[in-house]
Amino acid sequence: MTDEIFRVVPMTLDDLDQVRRIERVSFPSRWPRNSYRREILKNEQAQYMVVRADSSAGGNQDQKKPRFPLSVFPFARSRSCDIVAYAGLWIMIDEAHITTIAVDPAFRRRGIGELLMVQMAKLAVLAGAVRMTLEVRMSNQSAQALYRKYGFTEGGIRPRYYSDDFEDALIMHVENVADNVFGEKVEVGEQELRRRLSWSSQL
Ligand SMILES: CC(C)(COP(=O)(O)OP(=O)(O)OC[C@H]1O[C@@H](n2cnc3c(N)ncnc32)[C@H](O)[C@@H]1OP(=O)(O)O)[C@@H](O)C(=O)NCCC(=O)NCCS
Repeated sequence: MTDEIFRVVPMTLDDLDQVRRIERVSFPSRWPRNSYRREILKNEQAQYMVVRADSSAGGNQDQKKPRFPLSVFPFARSRSCDIVAYAGLWIMIDEAHITTIAVDPAFRRRGIGELLMVQMAKLAVLAGAVRMTLEVRMSNQSAQALYRKYGFTEGGIRPRYYSDDFEDALIMHVENVADNVFGEKVEVGEQELRRRLSWSSQL
């Protein structure tokens, strides 16, 4: 386990520059900034979240004290508590639809994508959703592996779904999310993440 502490918190408008930086390096095209604004401010079905890494929090605090006040070096503050991932979920009566998920490339393969998946699964169950759904590029094997790990299966294809290169989308879904099978997967995943990462959720 590293010294970093990860915090899952609701996304705010102040986060958009950092979110869009991760989006730029994660996807072939980006959402318009206004889409995020609309999702955060107007869409009552939407729940957007970010993961913040606080690298000054864990370990020996004395050794980590900066030599100068952070106010003198504002960039030092932003580096020590950065957004490293984000995700969005729509909860539409009985369906929880994952609209987006991305992890900063420098933080991938450490369980942070899974942390977001666990958070969204818990929100879906709490909201009384019956199923979770999403679309993923046919070529996106890493994301598909993440979804399969949580029981998502293939539900069809949306031909030429992506407008930038007309790649097909694979529809993936998991049914009966209130059932023990899914609940146990999420609980086991969460316990495993507690062993791998220091994190908390304020959703
Ligand atoms: C998909 C993505 C969110 C995964 O985030 P991550 O933090 O690297 O994933 P995790 O470390 O939590 O991995 C969780 C599981 O996902 C799968 N996985 C993640 N990356 C993988 C890779 N490169 N190859 C194979 N499996 C992978 C594995 O099953 C992994 O479980 P394991 O650690 O037991 O092997 C990340 O790769 C990303 O941001 N990709 C670009 C954006 C994107 O494609 N989003 C999905 C849109 S549908």
